[in-house]
Amino acid sequence: MKLNEKILVTGARGLVGSALVEHLKAEGFTNVLALGRQDCDLTDSASTRAYFEKHQPTYVFHAAARVYGIMGNMKNKALSFYDNVMINTNVVDAAQKVGVKKITVMGTGAVYPYPSPGLPLKEDMIFMGEPHAAENSYAHAKRAMLAMLRAYEESYGMEWAYVVSCNLFGPRDKFDTEFGHVVPSLIKKFFDAKRRGEKVVVWGNGSAKRDFMYVKDTARVGLAIMQNISGPANIGSGTVYSIRDIVDMIADITDMQDHVVWDETKPNGQDYRAYDLSKIDSIGFNCQHTIRQGLEETWAWYAENAQD
Ligand SMILES: NC(=O)c1ccc[n+]([C@@H]2O[C@H](COP(=O)([O-])OP(=O)(O)OC[C@H]3O[C@@H](n4cnc5c(N)ncnc54)[C@H](OP(=O)(O)O)[C@@H]3O)[C@@H](O)[C@H]2O)c1
Repeated sequence: MKLNEKILVTGARGLVGSALVEHLKAEGFTNVLALGRQDCDLTDSASTRAYFEKHQPTYVFHAAARVYGIMGNMKNKALSFYDNVMINTNVVDAAQKVGVKKITVMGTGAVYPYPSPGLPLKEDMIFMGEPHAAENSYAHAKRAMLAMLRAYEESYGMEWAYVVSCNLFGPRDKFDTEFGHVVPSLIKKFFDAKRRGEKVVVWGNGSAKRDFMYVKDTARVGLAIMQNISGPANIGSGTVYSIRDIVDMIADITDMQDHVVWDETKPNGQDYRAYDLSKIDSIGFNCQHTIRQGLEETWAWYAENAQD
């Protein structure tokens, strides 16, 4: 990738897209185009095509999506399916029509079958069974994008990479306690409880484990994948934490150690399923931030930017 080639980032005001824009600029790329929803509604085919024709990107990072945590995915199955299929179909098609050199898109670990066909989960297992029922519409929409990229490669020679992502967090996440992901929802709970002098109630017993990655490392691995890997590629930090570990770290950062209450009548969430990381290992990728550093930065960002 040449530093002056035009790189379009979709979802550029979201968690992943905004980190990608910052990282690309920091790496010296001078022609980064940041597409937010106000610039173009990607569910609309004509607008998406017109946007791509006008701007003629050379590379595309596709990070726009209708994204929720597990509860949001369960309660919004139709919207999640419709918006994600439309957005992904329009973006991949428009990218092909304007002849981009390569597109790298964000997939999700939710695409893997449940129960797992084997562990660790390898990229060639994605279509070996149904995804987990709680996230099936989101997962099927993301699987459709993978099938589309394969078809566009076969028919048109399109080059692509598909990032199968672990749990991410960082600044500009959706800090939503009901529909959000684990870390931003915990950060908001701690923030609100600290301000009001209340306890933080956390669901389950904290035993569920996850591979979390700080979004600045996601941006680094995204660029490395664009430059070095084709096809689907799992990403993860390779370090697995329980929800209890994460809660303890946030409690420590916020000085709320004595204010956490575990509601063990509530479910724990899916068990952790290990990802095979040999593709990103083969290009020498390692995270630069510990999860603790990521949590500290995210807390600081949220404390500064939280709106009532
Ligand atoms: N966060 C995670 O833990 C995680 C894990 C695995 C995979 N991923 C994947 O990573 C990608 C990025 O996720 P994220 O966490 O960065 O999500 P995010 O913060 O919600 O960002 C997604 C962005 O897409 C934009 N968008 C949604 N609908 C659009 C539309 N119709 N037209 C144009 N833009 C639209 C959103 O704009 P608005 O805010 O205006 O709606 C938002 O800025 C997604 O594909 C997601 O599935 C994320």
